Amino acid sequence: MRFEKKDFDSLRSEGDLNISPRRKAWAKKHIDAETQHWLDLDAKYFLHQSLSTPCLNVLSHCEGINLDDLQGRSFMDFHGNNVHQVGFANQRVIDAVKNQMEELAFCTRRYTNIPAIRLAEKLAKLAPGKLNKVLFAPAGTAAIGMALKLARMATGKFKTISMWDSFHGASLDAISIGGEAIFRKDVGPLLPGTEHVPPPDCYRCLWGCDDNCTLKCADYIEYVLGKEGDVAAVIAETVRSTSVVPPPGFWKKIRKACDKYGALLILDEIPHCLGRTGKMFTCQHFEVVPDMLVIGKGLGGGIFPLAALIARQDLDIMPDRALGHYTHEKNPVACAAAIATIEYLEEENLLANAESTGNYAMNRMRKMMQRHKIVGAVRGLGLLMGMELVKDRQTKEPAVEEAEQVMYSALGKGLNFKVTMGSIITLTPPLTITKQEIDRALNILDECLGEVER
Ligand SMILES: Cc1ncc(COP(=O)(O)O)c(C=O)c1O
Repeated sequence: MRFEKKDFDSLRSEGDLNISPRRKAWAKKHIDAETQHWLDLDAKYFLHQSLSTPCLNVLSHCEGINLDDLQGRSFMDFHGNNVHQVGFANQRVIDAVKNQMEELAFCTRRYTNIPAIRLAEKLAKLAPGKLNKVLFAPAGTAAIGMALKLARMATGKFKTISMWDSFHGASLDAISIGGEAIFRKDVGPLLPGTEHVPPPDCYRCLWGCDDNCTLKCADYIEYVLGKEGDVAAVIAETVRSTSVVPPPGFWKKIRKACDKYGALLILDEIPHCLGRTGKMFTCQHFEVVPDMLVIGKGLGGGIFPLAALIARQDLDIMPDRALGHYTHEKNPVACAAAIATIEYLEEENLLANAESTGNYAMNRMRKMMQRHKIVGAVRGLGLLMGMELVKDRQTKEPAVEEAEQVMYSALGKGLNFKVTMGSIITLTPPLTITKQEIDRALNILDECLGEVER
């Protein structure tokens, strides 16, 4: 896309960019003059980009499962960019960060430090199989880049197979393997050799398997691996953040196919690692061990940006090359935050809580589906949950406007969540959540679905 002068002229009213009528109505009702002042300044000084701007509201505080805004309102946050496994502003993480800042605040390259070593050791011990070599990065997308480079070096091949609709980060290498148009469109040539395949989505199965899954989606990946013959890696999210969970047997089949054709398997668990699905790593649900596992987001305790590549021990093959030469490669404060996060998850039994509150929420959501025709599917794993809204259960036409209406209505009642792919209500609360809090949130959602159907 090329910008012309008229496009810049239209930027004059910056606060109005991309605002839907429903969004405008919400702002008119809920945003006061002071908040609007800050929103206008935000719009003036930040580069605009889809999905992030214009901002909705201004935050003043976050704690536990809640976000507070400047106007003193509280919202239960079932979004949190998936960083808030241990809740926002977790005291244990804050204490660890404060102590570490006073002891050793940075680590210059070629030196190491105890928090970084302890975190690498902890992750190596937690990760399944022979995944016990670690490298940190300041963002998930950077860790994905390291995985792609390592796969090329290890196999001597450069092609990848990844999935349409997937997301692996916003850098050029990550969008090359990603499958969302909003990130790929109009940016020019992407990495070569990035084959894309359909995701294993049983609700919208391209092969029409529906309830009688025959794993044709996995067969197709094996077919492409065979036809290409020289694929370095299959890279995919173990489960999608839209809570699309692959059918049983899918990952085992892909693991076998990768081994047959000499491709590495890289699983991206950046948003749901560390317990969101009820297990420390999502691949443990499927009894497969990838060759590389990429984690991030909540690893930094919801405070620090931190991601990690955890690779098979025998992939430690690049001592004479730069794999991830990042300035904050061994940031002791970020690592202290991560250690505190993992210890808190373990000591507070948050994986078990994710499983039990997730099951509880899913049962309630299935009951809601019986009453609300607009709900086409309910699915999830632990506290990664989704509800797909459709205009008609037969045609499965996405109910995009309705989903937006439900989102703004819920926000007005104190519940924040994300709508993904236009019509999927995606619910990812902190793993500290109680059943009472789940009930409060789902009561709001229930009421909003009723409103939209009226
Ligand atoms: C599956 C997945 N991979 C990678 C990323 C990129 O992580 P980051 O934003 O830390 O670069 C994200 C972020 O949303 C993600 O959801």
